Amino acid sequence: MSTSSHTPGKILVTTRSFRKVPGRHQQLLLDAGYEIVNSPEARPLKADELGALLADPKIVGAILGVDEVAAAAIEPAQALRVISRFGVGVDNVDLAAATAHGIVVTNTPGANSIAVAELTIALILALARHVARHDRAIRKGDWSVISGMELHGQTLGIVGLGRIGQETAQRAAAFGMRIQFYDPLPPSPEVVAALNATACTLDKLLTDSDVVSLHLPLMDETRNLIDADAIARMKAGALLINTARGGLVDESALYDALAQNKLGGAAFDAFAKEPSIGNPLLELENFIAAPHSGSATKQTTLRMGLMAAENALAVLRGERPLHVVNPEVYEA
Ligand code: DGY
Repeated sequence: MSTSSHTPGKILVTTRSFRKVPGRHQQLLLDAGYEIVNSPEARPLKADELGALLADPKIVGAILGVDEVAAAAIEPAQALRVISRFGVGVDNVDLAAATAHGIVVTNTPGANSIAVAELTIALILALARHVARHDRAIRKGDWSVISGMELHGQTLGIVGLGRIGQETAQRAAAFGMRIQFYDPLPPSPEVVAALNATACTLDKLLTDSDVVSLHLPLMDETRNLIDADAIARMKAGALLINTARGGLVDESALYDALAQNKLGGAAFDAFAKEPSIGNPLLELENFIAAPHSGSATKQTTLRMGLMAAENALAVLRGERPLHVVNPEVYEA
């Protein structure tokens, strides 16, 4: 009887929730014979830290979060065949470098839409009714009441009506909000009609919305989309929600607008630099911060974990997974 200890290799996992929430996603990797190597850190890795781990010649797959997957992280990899993003956004991955090294990059579209939409609604309500601010004040012995804004009858402007934008629109409509959206690549007219949403220009969205919520990827064309000029065009007292990507908003222009109370408030789950400890925005009472936790529910972790594990295993079996982000890798 053979007692060979040969394994097909190791899979690096950097995302904490993939590691911490037990479920079939981990078992799938183990059943296929892979050894799971966990990141030594509880935060996203810098390129050099990731590169040092990927340099292990036994690492054939990597299930990654919002780590810095720059060329400097990819180049030291010796045996890596797949970067499986545990999430949707791939702005943190140098796709050209991955393709040049023959590494397939996959992601998990749709898996976190409900979780992110629910967090978006939570942040809108928290700002509109000063939930975090009241809580902080009471803990300091201050029982004063700050008057809030009802969502009913207010206009929500959604920038990017993809999966998460659509889930957000549905939930906001249930609160009686009017929905308008800006999206250069809108969903089908049927989807738009079912949401009772109205298409408009970015300018109209900014000037006419009581709440603006961002649901678009970070790309060269969208970086700093909400700059000082865009913020200046927003309604006095309007709220800005960002559960998408930090680089979409000029944070120092936002700081000025919030400090001068030109905007009513802002709530971010995504920052230009993460972790965002010490960010000046955190000094402001009308700002709420979340630690990039939009996907962090048990249900979404299991859904994304399974998709990420299946994507990685498909590549390692020599199959083409459903969600390939750099299809050019198959043309080389
Ligand atoms: C995503 O899906 O891109 C989230 O930001 C979590 O990584």
